[in-house]
Amino acid sequence: MFRKLIASVLLVIGFCFTSAGGHAQGQVADAEGRQWWQHAVFYEIYPRSFADSNNDGIGDLNGVTSKLDYLRDLGVDAIWLTPCYPSPQVDFGYDVSDYENIDPMYGTLRDFDRLVSESRKRGIRIIMDFVINHTSDQHKWFLDSKSSRNSAYRDWYIWRDGKGPGRPPNNWLASFGGSAWKFDPQTGQYYYHFFYPEQPDLNWRNPAVKKAMFDVTRYWYKRGVAGFRLDAVDTLFEDPDLHDNPIRPGTNWQGLPDMINKYNDKLPEVHEVLKELRKVADEHGAVLIGETWTGDIEELKKYYGEHGEELEMPMDFMFTTVNKLSPSEFRRQIAKVESSGGWPVYVLSNHDITRSYNRYGDGQHNDAIAKLMAGLYLTLRGTPIMYYGEEIGMENNNPKRKEDVKDPIGRLGWPMFKGRDGERTPMQWNDEPNAGFSRATSWLPVSPAYPTHNVARELQDPGSVLQFYKHLLALRHQNGALLDGEYVPLNENDPNVLSYLRRYKSEAVLVVLNMSAAPHKVRFDLSSQNLSSATARTLLTTRRIQPQEASLRELSLEPFEVYIAEISK
Ligand code: NOJ
Repeated sequence: MFRKLIASVLLVIGFCFTSAGGHAQGQVADAEGRQWWQHAVFYEIYPRSFADSNNDGIGDLNGVTSKLDYLRDLGVDAIWLTPCYPSPQVDFGYDVSDYENIDPMYGTLRDFDRLVSESRKRGIRIIMDFVINHTSDQHKWFLDSKSSRNSAYRDWYIWRDGKGPGRPPNNWLASFGGSAWKFDPQTGQYYYHFFYPEQPDLNWRNPAVKKAMFDVTRYWYKRGVAGFRLDAVDTLFEDPDLHDNPIRPGTNWQGLPDMINKYNDKLPEVHEVLKELRKVADEHGAVLIGETWTGDIEELKKYYGEHGEELEMPMDFMFTTVNKLSPSEFRRQIAKVESSGGWPVYVLSNHDITRSYNRYGDGQHNDAIAKLMAGLYLTLRGTPIMYYGEEIGMENNNPKRKEDVKDPIGRLGWPMFKGRDGERTPMQWNDEPNAGFSRATSWLPVSPAYPTHNVARELQDPGSVLQFYKHLLALRHQNGALLDGEYVPLNENDPNVLSYLRRYKSEAVLVVLNMSAAPHKVRFDLSSQNLSSATARTLLTTRRIQPQEASLRELSLEPFEVYIAEISK
């Protein structure tokens, strides 16, 4: 109790400090030494698809502001806003043409400031997306760079001679199709792009680039931003000698040779930039989140920095690769990230990954499974990042015809890969036309599931996915063991039920997740944990009628049940 009181006092001080200076919110640790982001629930908003205030079919910042009460009531502490900077929208904002403004389709800087101040009133922080690897080809830096070999900005990007007519400098492939090199006939050289040709890579070896990009972060910190999610951070650097990448057997999603990105992915130099970027962030009390696609725990560990001096929150995407309800696979992944020594960051899906509702749903018990997955990643030690709509059980609405696809890689990969439109469809607010997202036709079609899965309806239904998220987030916010407790796996050989304790000082919370469609009975012997109680006091379950207590000697679980309980000594 005392701990919580101190934490709230410090938080209030943090907020006062912020509003006085108009700066980012200070890194105020609580009495336990926790930073705000360690206790926060993050929520990703894809602004095109959240709420459309001016009814042009595309979501906007005022739309987000209009939903802040909803987010506060849900239990959201920080919003990660995917890019809303001016952009030609080739990659829907991940091609930035001006880092210090807002695209008119989303609003104005004033709208942004209002979003920050209205969020702050509700205790919600704003995290911007920082597209750090590349700009748009329409950015003034690139336009200048491209204008002549003698441009002052030439070396802001990666320009190289080809190996001969029609032969790019090396064999590197773009992640979004074809060669990673585009020839510019005007200056007779190739430029490098890890993603689309309209997204030329910045040259991070140039100190002027570094300074300009660091200044961008300062600009937003001064506007009250509490941190950044760093886009595509793995690919900031390339081998200056441009060695060819090794090829492995098989083909990639485009039918091109499968390549190991040995010379243009996760180069060690990235860590130097992150350390420096972190210093700037620390001056402003801001947090850095990483889009870190790591293949193993050693790679993930590096992003925290040897002494925790790089990213506070590198996302653990390995968790999203467990695409089945497998207690043993989840146990393995959780143990790995726990072993990293860093603070885990859990994600179930995002604007690039098929929604969790589809990935885990069995077609019959999808809502129960959506609650089960919430019961998992919202009770683990670490910070969760939710994806908008996950809390109402939103599902993918994939395009049915190639001509409807908006995401360019979906057109390129059709029909094998349909792109990312499916996970980016409009938020479902109610059962009115366009799910209440907009009065105009929305830029992507609303999911046909919206009459049953929408905020308004689920708020009325005590058994809905949304209500379960709300209860769970409320519990998480006020339970010391769920916030700070260590993770202790239990019954590690159980093939159907994933169970663990969260232990914090004298508090212990038991989480039991039945990952199967059959009922199960489980038994817990917690004596090795110095817990002698034979009963558990229920905190939250997915059952219609909540038992006040349950026996640890024989706990009966319904199919896909989430059972969360307090254990006393
Ligand atoms: C990762 C972003 O999440 C994705 O949407 C984007 O297409 C690429 N980076 C390129 O910026």
